[in-house]
Amino acid sequence: MEIIIQPTPEAASAIAARMVGRLLGEKPDAVLGLATGSTPLLLYRELVQMKLDWSCVTTFNLDEYVGLASDHPASYHRFMWENLFRHVNIAEKNVHIPDGLVQDIPRFCRRYEMMIRVAGGIDIQLLGIGSDGHIGFNEPSSSLASRTRIKTLTEQTRAHNAAAFGGREQVPHHVITMGVGTIMDTRQVLLMAFGPDKARAVAEAVEGPITAMNPASILQLHPVAKIVLDEAAATHLRKADYYRWVYDNKPNWQKV
Ligand code: GLP
Repeated sequence: MEIIIQPTPEAASAIAARMVGRLLGEKPDAVLGLATGSTPLLLYRELVQMKLDWSCVTTFNLDEYVGLASDHPASYHRFMWENLFRHVNIAEKNVHIPDGLVQDIPRFCRRYEMMIRVAGGIDIQLLGIGSDGHIGFNEPSSSLASRTRIKTLTEQTRAHNAAAFGGREQVPHHVITMGVGTIMDTRQVLLMAFGPDKARAVAEAVEGPITAMNPASILQLHPVAKIVLDEAAATHLRKADYYRWVYDNKPNWQKV
């Protein structure tokens, strides 16, 4: 794991944007795994400003609420089009987001996994983290080998996401999410976390034991996982000084 601690979310997002920009420069037909939530918003804004060529890029989003139409204001479809896709030259046919209205969910999930394989696998997977350690919507106790499937949200996650729905009662209980195993199959992972509410989950994920009670902790087994934090999200890391030194003293050829 590479832990990158930056003073602000802006500085952290600029580093993440450079990583994605470099990938698209090297591989114009890259396959991106995308995340929603407040954390990647600055990154998406930065990527839009970079005026990259998205014409050959393919994307797969992590998750969507069951029961929400793609034009629902709180849907992740809407989030992605508002915050990224409509500002770049991506081909609509190359955008994949789980369908919240699909009737046969298990069949849809199998197809989603197959589409990722057919696209050649995900080159870089962007992730946020829940304050309980969830990645995508893989809540604590999720199988660390899970594939895309239906999941039930915890009350903590429903409360966290309530604002977008105008109240917790409106937040669906069920979601479709890529599995932890699906995320582990990606070639590179870039997890971002900002703010004090994430500090505990981040410390457990990075320095705690690998456990299904903090699904992000499985990233310790990912061969190329970068964890990009602001200072507030890094406050509980015991080895923070070591991570800072490592990053500040990287050989030039390793720098992003
Ligand atoms: C949501 C999403 C996750 C996201 C996380 C944190 O429920 N499904 O992909 O990483 O919770 O959200 P935020 O970035 O708003 O803190």
